[in-house]
Amino acid sequence: MNLQNTKLFISAGEIRQFPSHPIPQVALSGRSNVGKSSLINTLLGRKSLARVSGAPGKTITINFYDVDGKLFLVDLPGYGFAKRAPADKEKWSRLTDGYFTNNKNIDRVALVLQLIDLKVGPTADDVMMLRYLREAELPFAVVATKADKLNKTERTAALARLADHPDIPADTPIIPFSSLKGEGKEEVWRTLHRFANI
Ligand code: GTP
Ligand code: MG
Repeated sequence: MNLQNTKLFISAGEIRQFPSHPIPQVALSGRSNVGKSSLINTLLGRKSLARVSGAPGKTITINFYDVDGKLFLVDLPGYGFAKRAPADKEKWSRLTDGYFTNNKNIDRVALVLQLIDLKVGPTADDVMMLRYLREAELPFAVVATKADKLNKTERTAALARLADHPDIPADTPIIPFSSLKGEGKEEVWRTLHRFANI
């Protein structure tokens, strides 16, 4: 796959804008500020393809990145942004729910990467999302972000808590990740190849 050949295909604010190309989609889910856009940039080796937000949760769109015409990386809007206006929360739900429940191409969603801040651990919103993914029977992997913020002892403990979490089934891949250090990049790619068959 030629990672140089990557572009933002569409920043979709409406369900009807979701692309219908017959290629697998890998969606990134997680609360605002967890590091979704940074992960996309790290995976693709690009500095600022996906906008890394100083002010989280400002725009509510689903961004589809076309990776060499073979895969869509789908940057879902972050949740759990307390200061967000009710109208924006409504839009978040409509759009994200639309992606999972009203998506003609749901069969193309090969994997959801559920991002969880390793230091913070699963928030109440993360737990809701994990339960949702399980109920919807969507294949998912947990990416434990900002791993660079923890020392070795903290990191081992935090990873063990995730592995033991009641809403993370035992066979779920849990990948420690740091965009800052580039850690976990290869393992995420291996997981994408495995699930998306690319
Ligand atoms: P929304 O688009 O608002 O949903 O946020 P996001 O999940 O896309 O997060 P984003 O990638 O914009 O990162 C949020 C903040 O966390 C930025 O200030 C990043 O620089 C920082 N950040 C992202 N990844 C890492 C990481 O691996 N380590 C550290 N220390 N900081 C990170
Ligand atoms: Mg983002």
